Amino acid sequence: MSSKRPHKIATRVVTGGRKKEHTGSVVNVPVWRASTHLYEDVASLEAGKKSNSDGRFFYGRRGSPTQWALADALTAMEPGAAGTMLYPSGVAAISCALLSVLRPGDVLLMTDNVYDPSRSFADGFLKRFGVETRYFDPMTTDYSRLFCDKTRAILLEAPGSLTFEVQDVSAICAEAKKRGVVTLLDNTWATPYFFTALDKGVDITILAATKYIVGHSDVMLGSVTTHEKYWTRLRQTTQQLGQVVSPDDAYLAARGLRTLAVRMDAHEVSALTIAKWLQTRPDVEVVLHPALPECPGHAIWARDFTGSSGLFSFVLKGNKAKAAEFVDALDLFGIGYSWGGFESLALPVHPETCRSEVPWDIERSVIRLQIGLEDPDDLIADLDSAFRAIKAVD
Ligand SMILES: Cc1ncc(COP(=O)(O)O)c(C=O)c1O
Repeated sequence: MSSKRPHKIATRVVTGGRKKEHTGSVVNVPVWRASTHLYEDVASLEAGKKSNSDGRFFYGRRGSPTQWALADALTAMEPGAAGTMLYPSGVAAISCALLSVLRPGDVLLMTDNVYDPSRSFADGFLKRFGVETRYFDPMTTDYSRLFCDKTRAILLEAPGSLTFEVQDVSAICAEAKKRGVVTLLDNTWATPYFFTALDKGVDITILAATKYIVGHSDVMLGSVTTHEKYWTRLRQTTQQLGQVVSPDDAYLAARGLRTLAVRMDAHEVSALTIAKWLQTRPDVEVVLHPALPECPGHAIWARDFTGSSGLFSFVLKGNKAKAAEFVDALDLFGIGYSWGGFESLALPVHPETCRSEVPWDIERSVIRLQIGLEDPDDLIADLDSAFRAIKAVD
């Protein structure tokens, strides 16, 4: 018996992209490794060229059922989406999404707390391409001052990298729409599980799928999902730039995706437990976690998000050297880039090196934590011993 009610997101995470014609009698879409797809005859080869459609064999660069299944599953998570393109990293997804909408002479707006490599792409490649990038305070409400006649697109990130301010995505998108400005969002922190972007007014939503979608710290991958208006040019730009993801990576990502809901729920509970424990510490100045009232933009998070993931920062009291000492004293937390996997990580981070509109006080020592799926009691014990270790060297 089937109901007409649309399925909830945890169900779509499990069912999305699993078409019988691709899975056959097994649960997961198998790995189809292919560059050449063989045709019955020249007429069918010519027909394939003409139709240029997704989800049909053509040539390896257009993918195979393994990549199509993952793309379809990600599309199913965003109500109103026309399709999803896949990329070999989150950075490739961000740069290709921007290139699909920008032309020389345009002005691009970027939130000041954007992921630093997005800033590098704008200040390096896009500048040479003739696009000027202007950064803005993520917490501004004076939206009318942001735009000019040449503003073509705006890249948002909520919460922002390293410092986690939550900007008002819906309000900014509404202003952008009035002016015909395209809105793009790096939605890696929340994923559509905690924040569906297109129904908040975002035109193009981007994931570093390397993080929570893959979830196991073993694949680099990016995705871009959009509605009908920008779909054709996103697809064309992606194809023209020769972007393609290996079927093995797509398989691992699809496999990771199926457990996204339970992982995100567990990341949320553990990260909040630890963030609240950190708030009680006399050696912590502030905890920057969107679900805590002291985080800038908390009220916006409470209004628009259905949950919080496992990544947040805290500011340690004392001088900068303390952050490195603290991280070195941890045992269960790994020291390494990335996040969104099952294991916990800690890093001293330096927002002062990647802010231009809202300068960050260089003296404040910030530690970013990725809370994995270990028992939070063990993680708290590890943090506690690191606090004791830095006290011991005072
Ligand atoms: C917010 C955010 N966006 C994008 C990326 C880039 O993803 P990738 O490392 O897959 O290129 C990262 C990576 O850390 C990130 O933190």
